[in-house]
Amino acid sequence: MSHGRIRKAVFPVAGLGTRFLPATKTVPKEMLPIIDRPLIQYAVDEAIEAGCDTLVFVTNRYKHAVADYFDKAYELEQKLERAGKAEQLELVRNVLPEGVRAVFVTQAEALGLGHAVLCARPIVGDEPFAVLLPDDLIWNRGAGALKQMADAAQASGASVIAVEDVPAESTGSYGIVATDTFDGRQGRIRRIVEKPAPADAPSNLAVVGRYVLSPRIFELLEAVTPGAGGEIQLTDAIAALLAEAPVYAYRFQGTRFDCGTHIGLIEATIRYALDHEKLSDPARDMMQRALGELGVRERD
Ligand code: UTP
Repeated sequence: MSHGRIRKAVFPVAGLGTRFLPATKTVPKEMLPIIDRPLIQYAVDEAIEAGCDTLVFVTNRYKHAVADYFDKAYELEQKLERAGKAEQLELVRNVLPEGVRAVFVTQAEALGLGHAVLCARPIVGDEPFAVLLPDDLIWNRGAGALKQMADAAQASGASVIAVEDVPAESTGSYGIVATDTFDGRQGRIRRIVEKPAPADAPSNLAVVGRYVLSPRIFELLEAVTPGAGGEIQLTDAIAALLAEAPVYAYRFQGTRFDCGTHIGLIEATIRYALDHEKLSDPARDMMQRALGELGVRERD
């Protein structure tokens, strides 16, 4: 893999989002907001901060909302300009900064995350690239998770995958890796297993939705045979990649919220509100009141 800086980021957003039905009948999961910005915006900002200037969205034919969101909103901008709403105008214009381009690719059928990544191949070509799953929202006061990983990948020239320690009983929800001893934040991956039962898990280091990958992954994805439900798993291609090249697990600095679940989305909303300049105090008061009222009701 070359030692250059990654420039392209792939956002696989063609999943069905069944856990958020009925909302996801019309609102893609990635468009669900934390405060005032959709999940996809947080992931896009993280990719741009890491140095990416080409954003590849793998969508399905129902997800016009994602493309609309990144499109220029002429009428809205004109109205805000005429109304003298400069601050709001800036917010709308800064959805994508100048010099960053968005490319949309359709995944005709939801054949799995691996297949979605493969759909981005014609745009990514033969260079290392990032994959970000927007429903994994990562909050950090310092550099974003992908920036941390891109720096590590640039230094080692290897593929890098974000990992996090999860409770032993949760291994069945993640890809789980076995690694060499960590040197600082990273350790070389020797094995990766998709959603093992706790008894079969080689560790409790779980893969989360940030990857810096060698373009070799595309060839390996081509060779992956569909697993359960006809899905092409990214994990299978990563397993093949680490048999032929170093792939590092990276314990990023930051807090991850699994916004693909109800409780994760609630937790993220609460944490962002408590950290928000204007919302912090009222949110704290509101939560104390709500907990107090619940306490009274429980004692009745
Ligand atoms: P998930 O496993 O979270 O599936 O996909 P999902 O469909 O989005 O949500 P649920 O489980 O039905 O609620 C992980 C990521 O891979 C993308 C999803 O959009 C999500 O970002 N994905 C998954 C695709 O782009 N295409 C697929 O065929 C499958």
